[in-house]
Amino acid sequence: MEMAIFSYPGLHFVLKWLHIFFGIMWIGHLYYFNFTQGTFMAQTDAPTKSQVQQKLLPVALYWFRWGAMWTFVSGLLMLHTASKIGFSIQGDWGVKILTGAAFGTLMWANVWFQIWPKQKIVIQSATQVAGGGSAIPEAAAAGAAALLASRTNTLFSIPMLFFMVAAPHLSIEMDLANQTTYYIFLLVVLGALEYNALKGKLGPITTVKGVITAGFILTAVVYFGMEVIL
Ligand code: HEM
Repeated sequence: MEMAIFSYPGLHFVLKWLHIFFGIMWIGHLYYFNFTQGTFMAQTDAPTKSQVQQKLLPVALYWFRWGAMWTFVSGLLMLHTASKIGFSIQGDWGVKILTGAAFGTLMWANVWFQIWPKQKIVIQSATQVAGGGSAIPEAAAAGAAALLASRTNTLFSIPMLFFMVAAPHLSIEMDLANQTTYYIFLLVVLGALEYNALKGKLGPITTVKGVITAGFILTAVVYFGMEVIL
């Protein structure tokens, strides 16, 4: 008996299924942190806040960061299986998937190299204080840096999903001769936003409404850039 999943299209499908499973695990936690927990923490008392930091955050961040890792790994593997079933990085699919993947890769890096290291300081500080010790002086700044990276990831998640799903489902006629110009445009936009994520300010993405609105605007900007340039 021939089984559909034991072929390159089948493998690509299984990877996509896992990719979406891990993607939900990751982005579900991202939205929980940004839309739900932030609002709760702003209203709750200090002992509850400390409990959340000591007991809830480590568990939530475990599923969050490993969800990010496996989404990323399965995504990279799919770039390979896709090439085996006729998709080309050099075609219009490539432009769309590389756009989505560029957002996703920055998001993954923000999780592992900014949010998680900074949140470890926040958790450690809360644990020390609860044990009768003193707070870590950098904890407040670490929390602020983690928030900025986390809000940026929420901003990125909206265009990321648009382009990732657009890759096989939204056909866009492209003049691929202008690819280099498009990638420079994308690099400038992403570079500026990532620079802000590491060194800048929250600005309009301070509020939940602000970050969602900005996410839709960013999607429109990149989409129109793609249509106009290509
Ligand atoms: C981290 C970097 C990421 C990379 C390198 C990546 C790469 C890919 C690739 C190669 C595909 C296959 C597209 C096709 O078959 O045409 C795909 C599909 C998909 N990805 Fe990602 N991805 C990443 C992050 C994410 C994240 C964070 C999510 C959020 C849930 C996500 C959601 C999806 C979805 C829903 C599909 C299915 C698209 C469809 O068939 O309609 N990806 N991704």
